Amino acid sequence: MTDTQTTDSVIRVRGIHKSFKDLHVLRGVDFDVQKGSIFALLGSNGAGKTTVVRILSTLLKADAGSASVHGFDVAATPGDVRESISLTGQFAAVDEVLSGRENLVLIAKLRHLKNPGTIADELLDRFSLTEAGGRKAATYSGGMRRRLDIAMSLIGNPPVIFLDEPTTGLDPQARIEVWQTVRKLAAGGTTVLLTTQYLDEAEQLADRIAILHKGTIIQNGTLAELKQLLPPATVEYVEKQPSLEDVFLALVGDTGEGDADDAEASTSDTAAGGVRAGKEPR
Ligand SMILES: Nc1ncnc2c1ncn2[C@@H]1O[C@H](COP(=O)(O)OP(=O)(O)OP(=O)(O)O)[C@@H](O)[C@H]1O
Ligand SMILES: [Mg+2]
Repeated sequence: MTDTQTTDSVIRVRGIHKSFKDLHVLRGVDFDVQKGSIFALLGSNGAGKTTVVRILSTLLKADAGSASVHGFDVAATPGDVRESISLTGQFAAVDEVLSGRENLVLIAKLRHLKNPGTIADELLDRFSLTEAGGRKAATYSGGMRRRLDIAMSLIGNPPVIFLDEPTTGLDPQARIEVWQTVRKLAAGGTTVLLTTQYLDEAEQLADRIAILHKGTIIQNGTLAELKQLLPPATVEYVEKQPSLEDVFLALVGDTGEGDADDAEASTSDTAAGGVRAGKEPR
């Protein structure tokens, strides 16, 4: 529980196992995330990324292993963990009937913060939503909605944020806007763990990238370290360095088959721009 006092690991995960009935999804997951860094958990559909995030955000209990967030053990002191984090799920938690500003004020009030109006205005400004702030969120584009969602999750300034597939379904421009937001957060000292199926997202954003495959982290490193796993000569495009996609596919195979059920995944939509992990580019 005192790990963060001796190292810079804000998130520390050791030997996490999780099964859903007979489906052994996580089979000993280990990783660390350093303060103020962006850590991308990359994996195919059904690899267990959301399961990891749900365990770290105390929504789900691991069967074995341990994890701490901001120095607090997720199993022993879940309340302290919850006060240290925010979680932005794949589907925006925005109330569409309310305006952007009203959504922010509502959350600030729910968190018993002083001056909710001021907090809302500051966040609208920070996320370039000032002009749209008075409009119903129902009229927002996907990118605006996602920015509002992230803004809502930042109320109270949590030191650690979890973003589960922050840009799924967004167009390339909106994705770039979200990326800029995430970069700014990390530059301000917030520790970010994001999951993604988009290899370019990890490539663009992450200080470290971990690949979750068949229940364990099969590789964890900086982009440069991951690229070194493949010599340039073995890639299809001989004049280029291997892309993260090459490294990913070489590590997990390019059949797209995971051990876990990916039936849901095959029916899910594809977003514009970006190559999905374990899938052919579309
Ligand atoms: N509550 C649950 N009950 C039963 N099975 C579950 C439950 N939650 C997740 N699973 C299964 O565990 C596996 C991992 O799911 P998870 O949602 O963590 O994957 P993921 O990597 O986030 O996938 P995606 O990229 O599609 O979001 C899947 O096979 C999923 O069907
Ligand atoms: Mg998921």
